[in-house]
Amino acid sequence: MSKVAIITGGGSGLGQSTALRLAEEGVNIVVVDIDEEGGNKTVEMVKKSGVEAIFIKADVSKADEVKNYVDQTVEKFGTIDYFFNNAGISGSGAYYLETDIDEIEKIVGINLMGALYGVRYVAEVMVKNGGGAIVNTASSAGVIGQDTVVTYSATKHGIVGITKSLVAEYAKDGLRVNAVAPGPTETPMVKSYFDANPKMKENAEQGIPQKRLGTPEEVAELVTFLLTSKAEYINGEVIRIDGGFTNTK
Ligand SMILES: NC(=O)c1ccc[n+]([C@@H]2O[C@H](COP(=O)([O-])OP(=O)(O)OC[C@H]3O[C@@H](n4cnc5c(N)ncnc54)[C@H](O)[C@@H]3O)[C@@H](O)[C@H]2O)c1
Repeated sequence: MSKVAIITGGGSGLGQSTALRLAEEGVNIVVVDIDEEGGNKTVEMVKKSGVEAIFIKADVSKADEVKNYVDQTVEKFGTIDYFFNNAGISGSGAYYLETDIDEIEKIVGINLMGALYGVRYVAEVMVKNGGGAIVNTASSAGVIGQDTVVTYSATKHGIVGITKSLVAEYAKDGLRVNAVAPGPTETPMVKSYFDANPKMKENAEQGIPQKRLGTPEEVAELVTFLLTSKAEYINGEVIRIDGGFTNTK
């Protein structure tokens, strides 16, 4: 029987690429996003692989909306095999002491609370059904310290904590939880920033041993590997995919 995956932030970037890659493996896809247009576009693209796909609009920072996307998925497909807990935002790039409290609360709400609510409701279904696989999206900023990203970095270090601690509790129930830690990757989020600041792009590339940004397709390949049974004995890992960037820090 076809597997079922929920992908948050599936309307763009890493979420969209992973939806397409998992669909190539015959996985049915539930795209969750706050952006209706992007979410529906991913569904249309995914369906070309012949799998079933639906879009559920949700703001992941709201627990009731997270519960709703989980309930709707179970209602439609009966179970959840894979979960890419990925929706997230970056900050303004301001230094921390110049950052508004509203911005801090917003980033924590989406990146950390959204991820915590996601695993709270999804893992409940998976454990009840005998197991499943989760990949959380951390970041380079989740494994090293960097300036101008204090709040973002706090949320991504939090993602690492979620990943390791869930395994301690629920691996015995068939749950696998891993995280990916991408370096700068050419998604729309990063591309629009670098298009406006070409010098920043050059600086970023120079700071990466492989001298280039990552691609969404490379991250999608890793996430697909970690979610599927090929990675059956990999649990609680945070896999860096950053061209050697954090390795040099
Ligand atoms: N692109 C990078 O360089 C990079 C590097 C490391 C980590 N990440 C992380 O990867 C994840 C995906 O980022 P991306 O680069 O694909 O960005 P993106 O902006 O292309 O995609 C993010 C998606 O999340 C959705 N989203 C935002 N807030 C939401 C909310 N409250 N509820 C539901 N959906 C919401 C957006 O609408 C968008 O479709 C994020 O967690 C980000 O922090 C990205």
